[in-house]
Amino acid sequence: VHVVSGVAQARELASLLPRPVGFVPTMGALHEGHLDLVRRAMNENASVVASVFVNPLQFAPTEDLSRYPRDLDGDRAKLAHLGVDMLFMPTPQTMYPAGFGTAVDVGPMGTVYEGAARPAHFRGVTTVVTKLLHVIDPDVLYLGQKDAQQTAVLRAMIRDLDMNVGTSIVPTHREPDGLAMSSRNVYLSPEQRAAAPSLHEALVTLCATLEHGSSKADAVAQARSKLSPLAQLDYLDVVDADRFEPVEQLRPPAFIIGAARFGKTRLIDNLWIEP
Ligand code: PAF
Repeated sequence: VHVVSGVAQARELASLLPRPVGFVPTMGALHEGHLDLVRRAMNENASVVASVFVNPLQFAPTEDLSRYPRDLDGDRAKLAHLGVDMLFMPTPQTMYPAGFGTAVDVGPMGTVYEGAARPAHFRGVTTVVTKLLHVIDPDVLYLGQKDAQQTAVLRAMIRDLDMNVGTSIVPTHREPDGLAMSSRNVYLSPEQRAAAPSLHEALVTLCATLEHGSSKADAVAQARSKLSPLAQLDYLDVVDADRFEPVEQLRPPAFIIGAARFGKTRLIDNLWIEP
Protein backbone atom coordinates (compact mmCIF):
# COMPACT_ATOMS: atom_id res chain seq x y z
CA VAL A 1 0.00 0.00 0.00
CA HIS A 2 1.25 3.48 -0.93
CA VAL A 3 0.98 5.72 2.14
CA VAL A 4 0.79 9.43 1.33
CA SER A 5 0.27 12.42 3.57
CA GLY A 6 0.46 15.41 1.21
CA VAL A 7 -2.48 16.70 -0.85
CA ALA A 8 -0.59 17.16 -4.15
CA GLN A 9 1.03 13.74 -3.86
CA ALA A 10 -2.30 12.07 -2.99
CA ARG A 11 -4.08 13.76 -5.89
CA GLU A 12 -1.37 12.75 -8.36
CA LEU A 13 -1.22 9.12 -7.22
CA ALA A 14 -5.02 8.74 -7.07
CA SER A 15 -5.35 10.14 -10.60
CA LEU A 16 -3.10 7.36 -11.92
CA LEU A 17 -5.14 4.51 -10.42
CA PRO A 18 -7.23 2.34 -12.76
CA ARG A 19 -10.94 3.26 -12.58
CA PRO A 20 -13.41 2.76 -11.10
CA VAL A 21 -11.86 3.95 -7.84
CA GLY A 22 -13.64 3.16 -4.57
CA PHE A 23 -12.92 5.41 -1.59
CA VAL A 24 -13.28 4.48 2.09
CA PRO A 25 -12.81 7.49 4.42
CA THR A 26 -12.17 6.58 8.07
CA MET A 27 -10.92 8.02 11.33
CA GLY A 28 -8.76 4.94 11.89
CA ALA A 29 -8.77 2.48 14.81
CA LEU A 30 -10.06 0.11 12.15
CA HIS A 31 -12.37 -2.72 13.20
CA GLU A 32 -14.23 -5.40 11.22
CA GLY A 33 -16.97 -2.89 10.37
CA HIS A 34 -14.47 -0.67 8.54
CA LEU A 35 -12.88 -3.71 6.91
CA ASP A 36 -16.33 -4.72 5.53
CA LEU A 37 -16.38 -1.36 3.73
CA VAL A 38 -12.89 -1.96 2.34
CA ARG A 39 -13.77 -5.52 1.23
CA ARG A 40 -16.93 -4.28 -0.49
CA ALA A 41 -14.95 -1.54 -2.23
CA MET A 42 -12.30 -4.07 -3.34
CA ASN A 43 -15.03 -6.29 -4.86
CA GLU A 44 -16.70 -3.45 -6.74
CA ASN A 45 -13.76 -1.39 -8.07
CA ALA A 46 -10.50 -1.65 -9.99
CA SER A 47 -8.72 0.38 -7.30
CA VAL A 48 -9.37 1.29 -3.68
CA VAL A 49 -8.19 4.30 -1.70
CA ALA A 50 -8.67 4.55 2.08
CA SER A 51 -8.02 7.54 4.31
CA VAL A 52 -7.24 7.71 8.01
CA PHE A 53 -7.77 11.15 9.49
CA VAL A 54 -9.16 11.96 12.94
CA ASN A 55 -10.98 15.10 11.84
CA PRO A 56 -10.82 17.79 14.54
CA LEU A 57 -13.64 19.78 12.85
CA GLN A 58 -16.25 17.15 13.70
CA PHE A 59 -15.47 17.09 17.43
CA ALA A 60 -16.78 19.72 19.86
CA PRO A 61 -14.22 21.13 22.33
CA THR A 62 -15.87 19.03 25.07
CA GLU A 63 -15.72 15.80 23.06
CA ASP A 64 -13.25 12.94 22.82
CA LEU A 65 -10.82 14.21 20.11
CA SER A 66 -7.66 13.82 22.19
CA ARG A 67 -8.63 10.42 23.58
CA TYR A 68 -10.16 9.12 20.33
CA PRO A 69 -8.49 5.72 19.77
CA ARG A 70 -5.52 5.78 17.37
CA ASP A 71 -3.62 2.81 15.91
CA LEU A 72 -1.81 4.00 12.78
CA ASP A 73 0.53 1.02 12.49
CA GLY A 74 -2.32 -1.45 12.97
CA ASP A 75 -4.50 0.42 10.46
CA ARG A 76 -1.74 0.44 7.84
CA ALA A 77 -1.12 -3.28 8.28
CA LYS A 78 -4.84 -4.16 7.99
CA LEU A 79 -5.28 -2.08 4.83
CA ALA A 80 -2.10 -3.47 3.26
CA HIS A 81 -3.27 -7.00 4.05
CA LEU A 82 -6.58 -6.41 2.24
CA GLY A 83 -4.72 -5.03 -0.81
CA VAL A 84 -5.76 -1.37 -0.70
CA ASP A 85 -3.88 0.60 -3.39
CA MET A 86 -3.38 3.86 -1.53
CA LEU A 87 -3.73 5.16 2.00
CA PHE A 88 -4.10 8.92 2.53
CA MET A 89 -3.04 9.96 6.04
CA PRO A 90 -2.90 13.76 6.17
CA THR A 91 -2.06 15.75 9.30
CA PRO A 92 -4.48 18.34 10.75
CA GLN A 93 -2.07 21.09 9.54
CA THR A 94 -2.26 19.74 5.99
CA MET A 95 -6.06 19.65 5.99
CA TYR A 96 -6.58 22.88 7.93
CA PRO A 97 -3.64 25.25 7.50
CA ALA A 98 -3.70 28.65 9.19
CA GLY A 99 -6.46 30.77 7.71
CA PHE A 100 -8.74 27.87 6.82
CA GLY A 101 -12.34 29.05 7.23
CA THR A 102 -14.65 27.48 4.63
CA ALA A 103 -17.45 25.14 5.71
CA VAL A 104 -19.96 22.95 3.92
CA ASP A 105 -23.36 22.82 5.65
CA VAL A 106 -26.41 20.80 4.58
CA GLY A 107 -28.92 22.81 6.61
CA PRO A 108 -31.66 21.47 8.90
CA MET A 109 -30.86 17.77 8.31
CA GLY A 110 -27.60 18.33 10.13
CA THR A 111 -29.23 19.90 13.20
CA VAL A 112 -31.55 17.09 14.38
CA TYR A 113 -30.78 13.88 16.33
CA GLU A 114 -26.95 13.56 16.24
CA GLY A 115 -26.78 17.18 15.06
CA ALA A 116 -28.81 18.32 18.07
CA ALA A 117 -26.54 16.41 20.46
CA ARG A 118 -23.39 17.49 18.60
CA PRO A 119 -24.04 20.93 17.04
CA ALA A 120 -20.94 21.37 14.82
CA HIS A 121 -20.52 17.68 14.05
CA PHE A 122 -22.08 17.31 10.60
CA ARG A 123 -20.59 20.53 9.30
CA GLY A 124 -17.20 19.06 10.19
CA VAL A 125 -18.06 15.80 8.45
CA THR A 126 -19.36 17.43 5.25
CA THR A 127 -16.41 19.83 5.11
CA VAL A 128 -13.76 17.13 5.47
CA VAL A 129 -15.49 14.71 3.10
CA THR A 130 -15.75 17.47 0.49
CA LYS A 131 -12.01 18.05 0.78
CA LEU A 132 -11.24 14.32 0.64
CA LEU A 133 -13.46 13.86 -2.44
CA HIS A 134 -11.68 16.74 -4.17
CA VAL A 135 -8.28 15.21 -3.48
CA ILE A 136 -9.08 11.59 -4.32
CA ASP A 137 -11.81 12.13 -6.99
CA PRO A 138 -13.26 8.61 -6.55
CA ASP A 139 -16.13 7.01 -8.47
CA VAL A 140 -17.81 5.55 -5.38
CA LEU A 141 -17.79 6.67 -1.74
CA TYR A 142 -18.24 3.86 0.82
CA LEU A 143 -20.07 4.66 4.06
CA GLY A 144 -21.10 2.52 7.01
CA GLN A 145 -24.81 2.17 7.79
CA LYS A 146 -23.87 2.43 11.48
CA ASP A 147 -23.75 6.23 11.08
CA ALA A 148 -27.19 6.45 9.49
CA GLN A 149 -27.59 10.22 9.69
CA GLN A 150 -24.10 10.70 8.29
CA THR A 151 -25.10 8.63 5.23
CA ALA A 152 -28.21 10.79 4.73
CA VAL A 153 -26.30 14.05 5.25
CA LEU A 154 -23.49 13.09 2.85
CA ARG A 155 -25.92 11.84 0.18
CA ALA A 156 -27.82 15.14 0.48
CA MET A 157 -24.57 17.10 0.13
CA ILE A 158 -23.53 15.13 -2.97
CA ARG A 159 -26.98 15.65 -4.53
CA ASP A 160 -27.26 19.34 -3.60
CA LEU A 161 -23.76 20.24 -4.80
CA ASP A 162 -23.84 18.05 -7.96
CA MET A 163 -20.78 16.14 -6.85
CA ASN A 164 -19.79 13.49 -9.35
CA VAL A 165 -19.54 10.45 -7.07
CA GLY A 166 -21.79 7.49 -6.26
CA THR A 167 -22.40 6.19 -2.74
CA SER A 168 -22.54 2.69 -1.36
CA ILE A 169 -23.89 2.06 2.16
CA VAL A 170 -22.48 -1.05 3.85
CA PRO A 171 -24.55 -2.87 6.54
CA THR A 172 -23.50 -2.60 10.18
CA HIS A 173 -21.12 -5.25 11.53
CA ARG A 174 -22.32 -6.57 14.90
CA GLU A 175 -20.72 -8.42 17.77
CA PRO A 176 -22.34 -11.84 18.46
CA ASP A 177 -24.56 -10.24 21.14
CA GLY A 178 -25.89 -7.62 18.72
CA LEU A 179 -23.76 -4.62 19.74
CA ALA A 180 -22.85 -2.57 16.67
CA MET A 181 -19.09 -2.37 16.17
CA SER A 182 -17.75 1.09 16.94
CA SER A 183 -14.34 2.54 17.72
CA ARG A 184 -15.96 3.96 20.87
CA ASN A 185 -16.85 0.51 22.28
CA VAL A 186 -13.33 0.35 23.78
CA TYR A 187 -14.35 3.07 26.27
CA LEU A 188 -17.04 0.85 27.88
CA SER A 189 -16.41 -0.71 31.30
CA PRO A 190 -17.22 -4.45 31.52
CA GLU A 191 -20.60 -3.59 33.09
CA GLN A 192 -21.40 -1.01 30.43
CA ARG A 193 -20.26 -3.41 27.71
CA ALA A 194 -22.69 -6.03 29.05
CA ALA A 195 -25.51 -3.44 29.03
CA ALA A 196 -24.72 -1.94 25.62
CA PRO A 197 -26.49 -4.56 23.41
CA SER A 198 -29.78 -3.44 24.98
CA LEU A 199 -29.75 -0.48 22.56
CA HIS A 200 -29.95 -2.90 19.62
CA GLU A 201 -32.64 -4.93 21.44
CA ALA A 202 -34.68 -1.75 21.86
CA LEU A 203 -34.45 -1.03 18.11
CA VAL A 204 -35.49 -4.60 17.24
CA THR A 205 -38.46 -4.32 19.63
CA LEU A 206 -39.46 -0.97 18.15
CA CYS A 207 -39.39 -2.49 14.68
CA ALA A 208 -41.35 -5.62 15.64
CA THR A 209 -43.98 -3.64 17.59
CA LEU A 210 -44.56 -1.25 14.68
CA GLU A 211 -44.83 -4.20 12.30
CA HIS A 212 -47.57 -5.56 14.59
CA GLY A 213 -49.56 -2.40 13.91
CA SER A 214 -48.95 -0.48 17.15
CA SER A 215 -48.65 3.30 17.14
CA LYS A 216 -45.16 4.78 17.22
CA ALA A 217 -45.72 6.10 20.77
CA ASP A 218 -46.61 2.58 22.01
CA ALA A 219 -43.74 1.00 20.10
CA VAL A 220 -41.25 3.50 21.56
CA ALA A 221 -42.57 2.79 25.08
CA GLN A 222 -42.14 -0.98 24.54
CA ALA A 223 -38.66 -0.41 23.15
CA ARG A 224 -37.62 1.73 26.12
CA SER A 225 -38.46 -1.13 28.46
CA LYS A 226 -35.74 -3.24 26.77
CA LEU A 227 -33.00 -0.72 27.62
CA SER A 228 -30.64 -1.54 30.46
CA PRO A 229 -30.93 0.67 33.57
CA LEU A 230 -27.31 1.69 32.80
CA ALA A 231 -28.46 3.33 29.55
CA GLN A 232 -29.41 7.00 29.52
CA LEU A 233 -31.60 7.27 26.46
CA ASP A 234 -31.15 10.23 24.14
CA TYR A 235 -33.63 9.27 21.40
CA LEU A 236 -35.48 6.38 19.78
CA ASP A 237 -37.31 7.21 16.57
CA VAL A 238 -38.30 6.22 13.05
CA VAL A 239 -37.15 8.49 10.22
CA ASP A 240 -37.36 8.67 6.47
CA ALA A 241 -33.97 7.41 5.21
CA ASP A 242 -33.50 10.23 2.67
CA ARG A 243 -34.68 13.31 4.57
CA PHE A 244 -34.04 12.09 8.13
CA GLU A 245 -37.42 13.43 9.23
CA PRO A 246 -39.57 11.54 11.74
CA VAL A 247 -42.36 9.37 10.30
CA GLU A 248 -45.25 7.67 12.12
CA GLN A 249 -45.30 4.52 10.00
CA LEU A 250 -42.61 2.07 8.95
CA ARG A 251 -42.54 2.87 5.23
CA PRO A 252 -39.27 2.01 3.45
CA PRO A 253 -36.74 3.42 2.96
CA ALA A 254 -36.53 4.23 6.66
CA PHE A 255 -34.16 4.02 9.60
CA ILE A 256 -35.15 3.05 13.12
CA ILE A 257 -32.61 5.07 15.10
CA GLY A 258 -31.43 5.21 18.69
CA ALA A 259 -28.77 6.89 20.82
CA ALA A 260 -27.95 6.33 24.47
CA ARG A 261 -25.18 7.08 26.90
CA PHE A 262 -23.51 4.32 28.88
CA GLY A 263 -21.59 6.33 31.44
CA LYS A 264 -19.65 8.91 29.43
CA THR A 265 -19.80 6.91 26.23
CA ARG A 266 -22.52 7.81 23.76
CA LEU A 267 -23.51 4.98 21.44
CA ILE A 268 -25.73 5.12 18.36
CA ASP A 269 -27.36 2.33 16.39
CA ASN A 270 -30.03 1.84 13.75
CA LEU A 271 -31.98 -0.65 11.69
CA TRP A 272 -32.30 0.00 7.97
CA ILE A 273 -35.73 -0.70 6.51
CA GLU A 274 -34.96 -1.21 2.83
CA PRO A 275 -37.48 -0.80 0.01
O1 PAF B 1 -17.48 8.04 9.76
C1 PAF B 1 -16.34 8.52 9.98
O2 PAF B 1 -15.41 7.83 10.38
C2 PAF B 1 -16.09 10.00 9.73
O3 PAF B 1 -17.21 10.75 10.07
C3 PAF B 1 -15.65 10.30 8.29
C4 PAF B 1 -16.72 9.95 7.26
C5 PAF B 1 -14.38 9.52 7.98
C6 PAF B 1 -15.34 11.80 8.14
O4 PAF B 1 -14.35 12.20 9.01
